[in-house]
Amino acid sequence: MTQESLESYSHENRMFPPSEDFTKEALIPGIEAYQKEYAKSIEDNEGYWAEIAENLEWFQPWNRVFNGDDRPFFKWFEGAKTNITYNCVDRHVHNGLGNKAAIVWEGEPGETDKRVLTYWDLYREVNQCANALKDLGMKKGDRAALYLPMIPELAITTLACAKLGIIHTVIFAGFSSNSIRDRVDDCQAKLVITADGGWRRGQVLNLKSIVDEAIDGCESVTDVVIVKRGHGDPFPCKVKEGRDHWYHRMVQDKPIHCEPEPIDAEELLFLLYTSGTTGKPKGIMHSTAGYMVYAYQTMRTIFDIKPEDVYWCSADIGWITGHSYILYGPLLNGASIVMYEGAPNWPDSGRFWEIIEKYRVTIFYTAPTAIRAFMKWGESWPNQRDLSSLRLLGSVGEPINPEAWMWYHTVIGAEKCPIVDTWWQTETGGILISPIPGATTTKPGSATFPVFGIDADVLTEEGEPTETGLLAIKNVWPGIMRGIWGDKQRFIDTYWCKWGGQYYFPGDGAHKDKDGYIWVIGRVDDVVNVSGHRIGTAELESIFVGHPDVVESAVIGINHDIKGQCLVSFVTVKAGIIATEELVIQLKELVIKEIGKFAIPEKIVFAADLPKTRSGKIMRRLLRDIAENRAMGNVTTLADPSVVEELKRKYSEN
Ligand code: PRX
Repeated sequence: MTQESLESYSHENRMFPPSEDFTKEALIPGIEAYQKEYAKSIEDNEGYWAEIAENLEWFQPWNRVFNGDDRPFFKWFEGAKTNITYNCVDRHVHNGLGNKAAIVWEGEPGETDKRVLTYWDLYREVNQCANALKDLGMKKGDRAALYLPMIPELAITTLACAKLGIIHTVIFAGFSSNSIRDRVDDCQAKLVITADGGWRRGQVLNLKSIVDEAIDGCESVTDVVIVKRGHGDPFPCKVKEGRDHWYHRMVQDKPIHCEPEPIDAEELLFLLYTSGTTGKPKGIMHSTAGYMVYAYQTMRTIFDIKPEDVYWCSADIGWITGHSYILYGPLLNGASIVMYEGAPNWPDSGRFWEIIEKYRVTIFYTAPTAIRAFMKWGESWPNQRDLSSLRLLGSVGEPINPEAWMWYHTVIGAEKCPIVDTWWQTETGGILISPIPGATTTKPGSATFPVFGIDADVLTEEGEPTETGLLAIKNVWPGIMRGIWGDKQRFIDTYWCKWGGQYYFPGDGAHKDKDGYIWVIGRVDDVVNVSGHRIGTAELESIFVGHPDVVESAVIGINHDIKGQCLVSFVTVKAGIIATEELVIQLKELVIKEIGKFAIPEKIVFAADLPKTRSGKIMRRLLRDIAENRAMGNVTTLADPSVVEELKRKYSEN
């Protein structure tokens, strides 16, 4: 985020209180109710979480709400046993919600691909799947990797794993085979669940062949389950005798009941890999009880979820947003969710509004990058549809610029829907900073205040409160990550080294205005947020230097009108090598192979040299100045200042 945009954010004075109509019906009806609950949640934090947890079912009660003795390895609800799938599905069936729609699914092709699963349907399908997984010999603590399109079976298999205590790691279906292999190897997954294919913009993505390539030679994998997405005949794919099993055959005769495995509070529920500053993506660990309680409570209070709501989060279950706010949070609250397989602009740019009209969606949660794309495609698309069912809008994944916020408010929300701009991360498990819709007066572009049970502030490097600095979370909450799979030290170093390990350091910069509103500015580390996807620049740099013609590379993130940020890479080739278009293509292909298409840089600029300090450190700040066409910062520390002029020339030619 540049200084200019920060200033435009902090000068934003428009205020939007929730309407009386909304507040009257809201779960947290107004600022006083909010302040009372917030004060209680901070003053008696453990008591607060214990009370919330009582709304869920436990097979054995906890004997300690919070245990911080072994900082930063925290424990919540120690001694308790529960099961998150039982709480998401069985509990509602037992409470008379069996006939309520749990998942309303729309496939990319539309009319020919629709399914509604009631809670009772979900119960049966999850149990049949769990019984089949048991027959494969899968048991509590084993790891399963899921590489599926956004189809109901992604929800079903994830819930089936959780019912048995199998630790799931869902891999977004845009990742390459090498990314799958890295993840499967890292967590030593025994099982991979995939599909013969998935629809994306009218094309079938052949997921099974990507998995075959990925796990070739992975000794940990004993079984692969293939969900048939194709109608009638499956999409063409290879089936390896003894290892591969068709999902529909595997589940067809299985019993429809399955006892939930009692899971210890701190046993892991899932791993989700995300990019960091260095090295390969890290497996963020989330445990069962704390995550469950946190997802339940944030869903309830931030989305004001009611029995009659139709809730749609347009993310993919492959990201944390999908875990907490497509799957677990809504189902824990017994909500009806819409799930959509395809892209927002296929077959036309009005697809999302068509879905909202068709299912009378009441709560819609999407990303700023999508909102900016909708703005570009024009108001005529949403204006053709009846969006009057909407009562609440959400935003997630990156800072939302005031202009996009206003468009969302006016064109989609008809100036009547509160907007919850929710700040959080894979690591936090759930939302930490957000308006509470019936209570908070919002400002366009600000995530506003910490939610219940969260104490957050903006601090200097030294830990002093400041207006513009680093975001810090000063207490611990049940949904916080429990570590990085197989790397205790990296967990400590990344999140618990600043401020003497007293506070959680999320890696974001933030501004706190005179009214106490928090404006999250963006990452302060070498992680770039492209269309809400986190990409580590170090990861890309190591891919480029892996090419035999490349000696050095520096990747930076710069502002982008639609994507929020985009990647620009500077590459130095070996002496005697001529940088050609062909080399650009090869480098892009390497990115596709190692990560996936979504990580391809916007620009690849060949540079004879990179700006370095005398000690040899690449000055990325200067590269960003060049790429964003800004006046150059201080160049006196450069070993060779002439490098900058040459780079500027190269960049403008590109
Ligand atoms: O920089 C912040 C940004 O996304 C990062 C977390 O990315 P990830 O773990 O992939 O999770 C994304 C979905 C929760 C954060 O460190 N971010 C997320 N939400 C916001 C945001 N930045 C500003 N405003 C937000 N509402």
